[in-house]
Amino acid sequence: MKHGDSLLGMDWPKEKDNLRRFAVMAEIFEREVVSSGKPAKLLDFGCGTSHFYEFLQKKKLADRVAYTGIDIVPDSIEISKSKFPDNNYLCLDILESTKTLGDYDYITINGLFTQKRGMTEREMRSFLERVLTRLWPCFTKGLAFNTLSDQVDFKRRGSFHVDLDWAAKLFANKFTRYFQVRHDYGLYENTFYLFKKEYCSLLCPI
Ligand SMILES: C[S@@+](CC[C@H](N)C(=O)[O-])C[C@H]1O[C@@H](n2cnc3c(N)ncnc32)[C@H](O)[C@@H]1O
Repeated sequence: MKHGDSLLGMDWPKEKDNLRRFAVMAEIFEREVVSSGKPAKLLDFGCGTSHFYEFLQKKKLADRVAYTGIDIVPDSIEISKSKFPDNNYLCLDILESTKTLGDYDYITINGLFTQKRGMTEREMRSFLERVLTRLWPCFTKGLAFNTLSDQVDFKRRGSFHVDLDWAAKLFANKFTRYFQVRHDYGLYENTFYLFKKEYCSLLCPI
C-alpha cells in the first residue's frame, strides 16, 4: 500500500468527490434499511482500509448494516480490523481462492474497476466479468460498482472507461436485465446497480 490509510492510497484523492460517490453507492441499500429497520448484510468487496464503512458511520448508516470487507492486500485488512474489530474481514484474492465468501443482501465495489493496472481493455473487461461472475451467487438483492465514464473529453492512459452499451449487453446476457446506471452525480464516472430479479419487484411494485 503505497500511500497507506489515505484517500490517495485508495486512488480517490479528493474527499468531497469521495463522499459523493460513496453516497451514490450507499443508495442501493439506504432506503430499504432505513424503512425496514432491519440491518442488511453488506459485503464491501475490495474494501481497502474501510473508508466506505467510515462514510456509513458518518451518515449513521453503519448500525444498519452487518458489514464484511474483503481485500487482497493483507495490510489493508489488518488496518481495517484494528479500526473496526467488530466487523468481519477476509483477506483473499477472490479469483484465485475457492473459499466460500458468505451470503449477503448487498455487495458494493468501490474503485476496483477504474484503473487497468497494466491490463489491456480486453483483459480489464474480462476481469470485471469474472469478478461479477464470482460474486453473483453471493447476494440476494443488489450489487453496485463504479467505473469511469466513457462520456468524457479526456482519458488518462490506464484508466478504465466503460462503454455503456457493452456493459448493458454483459449484464443482460450474463447476469440480469434489472439494472440502473447512475451517470448524474457530477463526477467523470458512473455507478451501476445490478438487481436480482426477485428483488426488483419489491423496488418497483406493480
Ligand atoms: C481503488 S482501491 C478502493 C478501496 C476502497 N473500496 C475505497 O473505495 O476506499 C481497490 C481495492 O481493491 C482491492 N483488490 C484488487 N483486486 C482484488 C482481488 N482480486 N480480490 C480482492 N481485492 C482486490 C485492492 O487491494 C484495493 O484495496
